[in-house]
Amino acid sequence: MAKIIDGKKISAEIKEELKQEVAKFKEQGKEAALAVIQVGNDPASSVYVRNKKRACEYIGIGSLSYELPEETSEEELLKLIADLNAKQEVSGILVQLPLPSHMDEDKVIRAIDPAKDVDGFHPQNVGALVIGQKGFVSCTPAGIIELLKRSGVEIAGKHCVVIGRSNIVGKPMALLMLRENATVTVTHSKTQNLKEICKQADILIVAIGKKEFITADYIKEGAAVIDVGIHRDENNKLSGDVKFDEAEPLASAITPVPGGVGPMTIAMLMNNCVETMRRDA
Ligand code: GUN
Repeated sequence: MAKIIDGKKISAEIKEELKQEVAKFKEQGKEAALAVIQVGNDPASSVYVRNKKRACEYIGIGSLSYELPEETSEEELLKLIADLNAKQEVSGILVQLPLPSHMDEDKVIRAIDPAKDVDGFHPQNVGALVIGQKGFVSCTPAGIIELLKRSGVEIAGKHCVVIGRSNIVGKPMALLMLRENATVTVTHSKTQNLKEICKQADILIVAIGKKEFITADYIKEGAAVIDVGIHRDENNKLSGDVKFDEAEPLASAITPVPGGVGPMTIAMLMNNCVETMRRDA
């Protein structure tokens, strides 16, 4: 029987802590505001953007939202980012991804001032993570570290297997686990003997993007299993990359979907926004 890691509860605790921290900063006359840019009206992106604005309100920081039409030119978007970079009252800038196909995502991310890049996507922040320097860290992997720590899962010295090598999750996840002194193996869709490798993991972090791909025979008894996947079926039921019912009896701790990793992303985004207030404390 695994301990179910309650991401909803942990996320709520973090947001509560941040709310109190923000209140103290405000007493000192400090403010923070997050600018959120969405281009086009992808329904999933609209939900994320709305939730980000709500979280800002909850913890007591400002939010500015820019909803640009699908046909906005890259040049116009870059101009808006330059304006927001220059605005002293804007402490964080987030461009919701994916962007329409006529835009170069890398170029747009590079245009954000690294000191305001609360998503942690700018090459300067990614580079800082690689060499162990201070900088913003991508929110989902940062949230997974918090989940593990607050659930009492020991990381140092353990073998962590990460499935997935995206810039947003897999790569920063591997670097963060390394920073926590885990022994890290990064696997992906072309990895041979994936099952055998996963079976050696003390901590298995799954971001493969395939519904219920990880079955009992990928899991070592007593492993902690973290499921980053999210899939919606025709009845709107959510499931992850891990077959929960098979994994749960084997694991020592496991995240459910929904209510595991998902809620942590926004909590860590809020933490990055508050970091802009801590910086010059
Ligand atoms: N699209 C999906 N996840 C994310 C995220 O964490 N940040 C941004 N900006 N866009 C996303």
